[in-house]
Amino acid sequence: MTSGYRPLLDEAEKLSIPELRARQFTRLKQTLSHAYENSAAYRKKFDAASVTPSDLHKLEDLKKFPFTDKGDLRQAYPFNFFAVPMENIVRVHASSGTTGQPTVVGYTQDDVDMWADVVARSIRAAGGRAGMKCHIAYGYGLFTGGLGAHYGAEKLGCTVIPMSGGQTEKQVRLIQDFKPEIIMVTPSYMLSILDEFRRQGLDPRASSLKIGIFGAEPWSGQMRKEIEQAFDIDAVDIYGLSEVIGPGVANECVETKDGPTIWEDHFYPEIINPDTLQPVKDGEMGELVFTSLTKQAMPIIRYRTGDLTRLLPGTARNMRRMEKVTGRSDDMMIIRGVNVFPTQIEEIILQIPSLSPHYYCEITRPDRLDILTIVTEENPNISDTARINAAQTLRERIKSLIGVTAHIQLAAPNSLVRSTGKAKRIHDLRDI
Ligand code: DLL
Repeated sequence: MTSGYRPLLDEAEKLSIPELRARQFTRLKQTLSHAYENSAAYRKKFDAASVTPSDLHKLEDLKKFPFTDKGDLRQAYPFNFFAVPMENIVRVHASSGTTGQPTVVGYTQDDVDMWADVVARSIRAAGGRAGMKCHIAYGYGLFTGGLGAHYGAEKLGCTVIPMSGGQTEKQVRLIQDFKPEIIMVTPSYMLSILDEFRRQGLDPRASSLKIGIFGAEPWSGQMRKEIEQAFDIDAVDIYGLSEVIGPGVANECVETKDGPTIWEDHFYPEIINPDTLQPVKDGEMGELVFTSLTKQAMPIIRYRTGDLTRLLPGTARNMRRMEKVTGRSDDMMIIRGVNVFPTQIEEIILQIPSLSPHYYCEITRPDRLDILTIVTEENPNISDTARINAAQTLRERIKSLIGVTAHIQLAAPNSLVRSTGKAKRIHDLRDI
């Protein structure tokens, strides 16, 4: 980063900690009331826990309120978690879940505006400014990455290049021709773009890129160094999840690069011990839980993210930081930005008669791109044609239902190790 850097802050980023806590308290009270009064799902949960919004006297009282998890959202599929009439919903997004049934999230116009604000703030924290060109290579569609980044970059005043994911050769051509200063993409896909630069004999350090805003999957400090050196850019971490809003829940500040700053005026963080479910002190590791403070369409109360991290004091901003997320409390695999659960694979395997239900997922990274291999057994005495068809059907269904490309390895009948307790479904052979 060049010295003499001056961050550009909005009003909320300048609040003192007591001012911030006061704003959070007011907004939290409004959110709890809105959820209780307008969402049947929340009213039921609050009633079952014998709490009402009037039980909140201070921020810490939030711990009296029940958690929300993916199961709650799945049960409410598709729209029963919304707390405003359907005609006020201007957008939906969705992410895949353990049963293959997507989790749907909805936005009012105010929600979309707030989301654009926090993403614009994130890009500014990364060093982006109005007038810069921003190349977006997160996927557009139901996934929140592409459109979330897009609206934020536009709001900041950038020229947006909505490239979406894939077509790596074209990604490189557009970077060369359009000369963006900013790129927003998953870190693993950035590595493929890097390989493509080299394949074409181009010097990535000579490209126009100055800032990379990477997220949607875990990535190590080592990978940051590698990308920064290869492209001669600043690489910062953007964190978010669809249930809370999408990208832009937290973003690293380029002047410190010490873990994402949580935009606490909109998203209230807690860390809980996943076993006791009790909140732990700042600085202690646990599962990250978020409560939205300003969302209208789908207020989210104490949402268990499954992400393991800890809260750290503010440095570049008064708002607290979270340590970079490198692991989850459950078995979610993230393959090139797409969330994949073993049970989704299992469901598909079980629908193919020539395959046995014994399987595991192997993740490797031979050329710095994640490769998912499904190792599963064929049933005894199947014909060669049936074997070929089974592998092809499995591959095609995984691609169409989950959205990832998987390699299929069919093992001989009864050759896979049987589980004697909990099955180990993920064999992660990557070394990040
Ligand atoms: O991945 C939103 C997003 C898009 C974030 C683009 C950043 C950039 P989901 O598909 O709902 O939403 O997946 C959310 O992805 O609970 C984490 O486990 C993981 N994740 C997201 N950002 C990071 C990150 C988007 N920076 C889930 N580091 C989250 C590690 C991340 N994991």
